[in-house]
Amino acid sequence: MSDKVKVKVRIEKLRDEINRHRYYYHVLDKQEISEAALDSLKHELAKLEERFPDLITPDSPTQRVAGQPLDEFKKVKHRVLMMSLNDVFDAEELEAWLKRIKKLAPQEPAWDFYSEVKLDGLAISLVYEDGILAQAATRGDGQTGEDVTQNIKTIEAIPVRLTNPLESAAKQKELAERVKSFEKKYQCDASGIFNKILSGRFEARGEVYLAKKDFAKLNEEQEKKSEERFANPRNAAAGTIRQLDSKITAGRRLSFFAYDIIGDFGQATHEQVHEIIELLGFPKNHWNKYCADLEAVEKHHNEIGKMRDKLPFQIDGTVIGINSIKLFKNLGVVGKAPRGMAAYKFPAEQATTVVEDIIVQVGRTGAMTPVAHLKPV
Ligand code: IVH
Repeated sequence: MSDKVKVKVRIEKLRDEINRHRYYYHVLDKQEISEAALDSLKHELAKLEERFPDLITPDSPTQRVAGQPLDEFKKVKHRVLMMSLNDVFDAEELEAWLKRIKKLAPQEPAWDFYSEVKLDGLAISLVYEDGILAQAATRGDGQTGEDVTQNIKTIEAIPVRLTNPLESAAKQKELAERVKSFEKKYQCDASGIFNKILSGRFEARGEVYLAKKDFAKLNEEQEKKSEERFANPRNAAAGTIRQLDSKITAGRRLSFFAYDIIGDFGQATHEQVHEIIELLGFPKNHWNKYCADLEAVEKHHNEIGKMRDKLPFQIDGTVIGINSIKLFKNLGVVGKAPRGMAAYKFPAEQATTVVEDIIVQVGRTGAMTPVAHLKPV
C-alpha cells in the first residue's frame, strides 16, 4: 500500500471513530472514551489532513472548526414555510382546541398525540444533500431566513453527516436491533425510508438552544471580560447564532434538538418522526412522550411543569401535536400555524427579589419617573 493510501485508510477509520463517539455521546447519552482521548483522535485526523489537504471532505469532523468571519449573512428562501404555533394556557383552552379541530374531521375515529417539551431557543432549518449538511438557516420571517451554515457546523449535537442506520446496523449490533424494533413498532420498511432520506435533498428542523450550565458559564465569561451579561439562554443562543465570526459561536457550546422532517418519506406519525430523527444521529429528547389521549397530554404537561427547574435546558411549555401525520396534514393551516398542533404554555415564572434602589428619572418634558433597581434572580 502506498503512503497516501495508508493515510486515506487511517483518515477514514478516524472519522468513523470520531463520528461513532459523537453518536454515543449526543444520541445515546453514553461516553465511551474521555474527552482527552477523543481530542487526540481529532488532533491526529487534523494532522493527517494537513499533510494531504486533497483528502479533506466537507463532512470530516475537522470541518466543524470556525472559518473566516463573514461580512454579512446570505438570505435563504425556505422551500416550505417555517410556521409558528398558536398558544393555549390551560386545560380548558386545550380541550377547546381539540373540540374545534374534531369538528373538522368528525369521521376520524382515533385521536392520539405526541407531546414535546417546548425549548426556549431559536428555530433552525438544516438541509442535507446525500446525507451531508449543505445549508443551515434561521427561521427569519418564516419565508426567508439567514444562512448560518458556518456557525451551525460548530455545534457538535448536529451531525454534519447523517448516520445511515442501515449501513451502521450491519456494523453495530445495537443499531441493528434499534432498526429492527423500529420496523416492528411502525410496521414499515426502514430501508425505504432511510434510502430516500439519504439520497438527494433532505430537510430537518429543530431548535438550537443553550443548556443552563453553558449559559451560566457564558455569563461568567462575559463578566470576566467586562462585557454585558445575557438576559436569558434564548437571547444568548440567538446572539450566538447570529455571529458573523464563527469562532465566537464555536466557543459557546450551543445544543440542538430536532422536531420535524420536511417531505414524505413514508412516516406515519409524529412519534415515528422522532425515532427517525434519532436514528439519523440527532440527540434524543428523553422528555418527549406519546400520549394516547388528552388526559395523558395534560398529565405529561403537569409532570414536565413540576420538573421544569431541574431540566438541563430552559423550556416555556409543551408542544402538543396530533400524532397521525395524515390527519395533521388534513387539518391544514390557519394563518401561519398548523391547526393540528398547539403550544401549551406554562405560566410565566415568578420569583421574589429585593428592591435595591429607587431612582427618579427626569424626562425631556420634566416628567419624573421612579425606576426600581432589582437584585437579579
Ligand atoms: S414543533 C409549526 N416542537 O416553538 C412549528 N416547536 O412557538 C412546529 N419550538 O417556531 C414546531 N420547541 O421554534 C416544535 N419541541 C418543539 C419545539 C418547538 C420549541 C419552537 C419552534 C417554533 C416555536 C413556536
